[in-house]
Amino acid sequence: MSEQTSGQDSPLTSKRVLLLFAHPSQSRSEVNIALYKAAKKVQGITCVDLYSEYPKYDIDIEREQQRLLDHDVIIFQFPLYWYSTPSILKEWQDLVLEYGFAYGHEGTAIQGKQFFCAITAGGKEDAYQTDGYNHYTIRELLHPIEQTAALTGMNYWAPFVLFGSRTALEEGRVQEHVTSWKQLLEALVAGRVDENLATSLPQISGNLEAVIKGALS
Ligand SMILES: Cc1cc2nc3c(=O)[nH]c(=O)nc-3n(C[C@H](O)[C@H](O)[C@H](O)COP(=O)(O)O)c2cc1C
Repeated sequence: MSEQTSGQDSPLTSKRVLLLFAHPSQSRSEVNIALYKAAKKVQGITCVDLYSEYPKYDIDIEREQQRLLDHDVIIFQFPLYWYSTPSILKEWQDLVLEYGFAYGHEGTAIQGKQFFCAITAGGKEDAYQTDGYNHYTIRELLHPIEQTAALTGMNYWAPFVLFGSRTALEEGRVQEHVTSWKQLLEALVAGRVDENLATSLPQISGNLEAVIKGALS
């Protein structure tokens, strides 16, 4: 099964969270697979592995639109590939965010939903600066997705990012990131995320204590 939902009917669940995961070579993944496995254990998250569900890119538009309708928070989880998403996530956007559903005069289906990206990037954080190797910040590179969220009426949050992902395991940084991820997901389900702050920060990662309401108490 490429979709796993747990505890969606629980009375404790105040936000329905949809995680759309895209990684084309999971057997070689050191970070995303750990994040995805952790997410599957969080009660109240619907986890969808797009490459596993649609190995031939035959995306079921109605099913995906229904998934969007059924959730309050939408997350794209992916490794950064050529400063963008792996291709299936672009295909998913091209097919699922249809005129009359996600945009256009009567296309109001996903207005008001919360949306963010959970990303791993091989490059280091200092490379993702105006004067750095990659010239742009991650938030800037994600502008097409941010504007897609804006056009469709979703509230766009800053990304949750792990930089230097290809050396993160050997440097012992994966576990801490997975722990933060679990905290964020649990707070999302419980409706304890400060949405204004999540929108305005450059990144959610590194700012969890501020973003999660009551995290310090
Ligand atoms: C086709 C391809 C393109 C990539 N493009 C980028 C990129 O544009 N920027 C970057 O920082 N890392 C890039 N990387 C590195 C991946 O982001 C990195 O391998 C991934 O985040 C590691 O996560 P994983 O252990 O879950 O696979 C690319 C990797 C591949 C295979």
